[in-house]
Amino acid sequence: MNVTEALKSRISIRAFKPDPVPEALLREILDVARFAPSGGNLQPWKVIAVAGAERDAVVALAKANLPGTEDDRPVYPANLWEPYRSRRYKLGEDLYALLDIPRENKAGRLMQLAQNFEFFGAPVGLFFVIEKAMGHGQWAHLGMFMQSIALAAVERGLGTCMQEAWARMRAPLATHFALPASEMIYCGMALGYADVGNPVNTLRSDRAEVDEFATFRGF
Ligand SMILES: Cc1cc2nc3c(=O)[nH]c(=O)nc-3n(C[C@H](O)[C@H](O)[C@H](O)COP(=O)(O)O)c2cc1C
Repeated sequence: MNVTEALKSRISIRAFKPDPVPEALLREILDVARFAPSGGNLQPWKVIAVAGAERDAVVALAKANLPGTEDDRPVYPANLWEPYRSRRYKLGEDLYALLDIPRENKAGRLMQLAQNFEFFGAPVGLFFVIEKAMGHGQWAHLGMFMQSIALAAVERGLGTCMQEAWARMRAPLATHFALPASEMIYCGMALGYADVGNPVNTLRSDRAEVDEFATFRGF
């Protein structure tokens, strides 16, 4: 698999098989992803990986704290504007259409959202930790690291779903993992083998064409 194939075949997996992911395989993925770039080579990331009883404990913790709370670093800016608002809306509608959960079925949509807090059935959950004092640059660099993990996972036949949903659980997770006050969880990630027969995994989200986001000067 080359880089282009990995980029194009990585999609968010929202239904996993329960098959375990060996620690050695996860270590291999992290060992590759650590070559992600970061400004000043700060490598401003830490990872907490959970499986087995540790994963189950986190899932139970989330269940006990539903729906969680948004802190001072919300996932999206308030009153999202165009074209971002429509893109977000379209993604949700496409997802719920695939799953046949109409807008009126609020409970059904909430139950689907709650699947985030079971890692969509994945046997492994990753949490990305960053120092609170880090700025927007370092958050961006952490994102590069996360994408590197996702691509290394695809190459090894594994699926991922990045999960900012876990941002709603930052406070209980920080207590659970006994994080120092200087650190916070940015995001979660589900990791495992995709349940390929599940319709949710057929979702292919839209992308803007190159000319919508790029300008070319001086060519
Ligand atoms: C940082 C980040 C956080 C995300 N959080 C969630 C999440 O909490 N739940 C979820 O179902 N998808 C989540 N996603 C997946 C996005 O919805 C998805 O990447 C986007 O719609 C593009 O689709 P694709 O990943 O299938 O290409 C997240 C993606 C990123 C990059």
